[in-house]
Amino acid sequence: MGQPTQAPSGRIDDAWWRSAVIYQVYVRSFADGDGDGTGDLAGVRSRLPYLAELGVDALWFNPWYVSPMKDGGYDVADYRAVHPAFGTLAEAEKLIAEARELGIRTIVDIVPNHVSDQHPWFRAARAGGPERDLFHFRPGRGAHGELPPNNWTSEFGGPAWTRLEDGSWYLHLFAPEQPDLNWEHPAVRQEHEDILRFWFERGVAGVRIDSAALLAKDPRLPDVTEGQSPHPYLDRDELHDVYRSWRRVADEYGAVFVGEVWLPDSERFARYLRPDELHTAFNFAFMTCPWDAVRLRGVIDSTLAEHAPVGAPATWVLCNHDITRTVTRYGRADTGFDFAAKAFDTPTDLALGTRRARAAALLSLALPGAVYVYQGEELGLPEADIPRDRIEDPMHFRSGGTDPGRDGCRVPLPWTADAPYAGFGSREEPWLPQPEGWAAYAVDRQTDDPGSMLTLYRRAIRLRRGFGEAPLAWLPAPEGVLAFTRGTEVTCVVNLAAEPAEMPAHSGLLLASGPLHDDGRLPQDTAVWLRP
Ligand code: GLC
Repeated sequence: MGQPTQAPSGRIDDAWWRSAVIYQVYVRSFADGDGDGTGDLAGVRSRLPYLAELGVDALWFNPWYVSPMKDGGYDVADYRAVHPAFGTLAEAEKLIAEARELGIRTIVDIVPNHVSDQHPWFRAARAGGPERDLFHFRPGRGAHGELPPNNWTSEFGGPAWTRLEDGSWYLHLFAPEQPDLNWEHPAVRQEHEDILRFWFERGVAGVRIDSAALLAKDPRLPDVTEGQSPHPYLDRDELHDVYRSWRRVADEYGAVFVGEVWLPDSERFARYLRPDELHTAFNFAFMTCPWDAVRLRGVIDSTLAEHAPVGAPATWVLCNHDITRTVTRYGRADTGFDFAAKAFDTPTDLALGTRRARAAALLSLALPGAVYVYQGEELGLPEADIPRDRIEDPMHFRSGGTDPGRDGCRVPLPWTADAPYAGFGSREEPWLPQPEGWAAYAVDRQTDDPGSMLTLYRRAIRLRRGFGEAPLAWLPAPEGVLAFTRGTEVTCVVNLAAEPAEMPAHSGLLLASGPLHDDGRLPQDTAVWLRP
């Protein structure tokens, strides 16, 4: 596959994040170094050459901290220590340094909205200590306090309140094992700035902020009512003060933020990206957009328009550890994504989904801004059906068993087709079962195959480096076709229409997501990169 094209180590490139390809590592399922069935940092270290060869600029790690794993590590018991199943802090430091040697930066995931119920603060609070002020404890409603303090519901279903043995209730916007912190309390703010420094001191180049728009709550904790503004816990103005303060810490280290900000209102969304707040935020509008030319163009235009006034680069995301995998989603009747619409046994045409996912890869990698690639996306992995007795995700249980949950996109990666567990680990069965046929997607099978998803990603990521920050300009195109240029570097054409499309004038073909017609026209669900 030729030589990796990383920046030489130590290259000074302050703006790297504005056009980076960032690879998301779900450590538990990436590679199992010690063979116990759970992915770990040793596994990641052993696969750094693979990531360098893929050509990514940075790795975003889902939480790797000490955690009871009630929500895949988003229930953190100690933000300054690595989960023993993953390794040690010393090993994380080695990993950060080794990756940097290969020109790859590290982004860690900070979970500020809540902690684990096993975090020392919550254990003390549960025991009745003054630490209760660090959380949201309230008496219940009803004659005997038997009703939750308000009508808020958990993002995972059911009430957002749990009652303790002493009769008091505490707030959790997610699982009961994830009590929400009280961001009005100065100790909560201080602690998080210390945690940021802790990781920046260890060479971390960026932080992904989990549930970034949920931290601040109306202290009166009123009921949620239809259309209320401001909302009692979503996107409150007080939050911007928190992020301005975080930004000052990050600037001391030249580090960057990416916020998990799900907001339908683009003007409100853009506020998080003002020059003294977060550097970037995930583009959920693009990620959940159906495979439809008009809708996609609309999202691309609104994304660029909302980012421009604040000077922030856009991000482009097709899937992550919470979302149905791309090849599966695009192979279904409903190609958008909505948590509420997830169901078992949804009919899927994987060949169709894969063709579209290949075209979508070229579309997203041609857009100006940063692109996120979720582990296994570059292998074209489908969403797996997890046997019900092996599901771990709280989303499944809190839905009363109707929602399949998010484990189907978290299955351990296949590395070597002919090795036990497709080369994920050597001894124990992986923590989630790999479905039949998983080995066919193995890295070793795809490496030298010119038609593989992996080869497409490698080539595209390499070529993309040349696009820099050149702006996007749309070209005239027939209905159902997206066509745009990025400066003089590339013309990207994606055909979502049933009719084959004529190509715009060009001087050469750089890359195609699939075969072209004999007459040179672009078939349905196919994308090309042309030399203008
Ligand atoms: C974010 C994470 C998700 C997690 C939730 C609670 O949405 O991406 O995986 O369950 O926050 O921390």
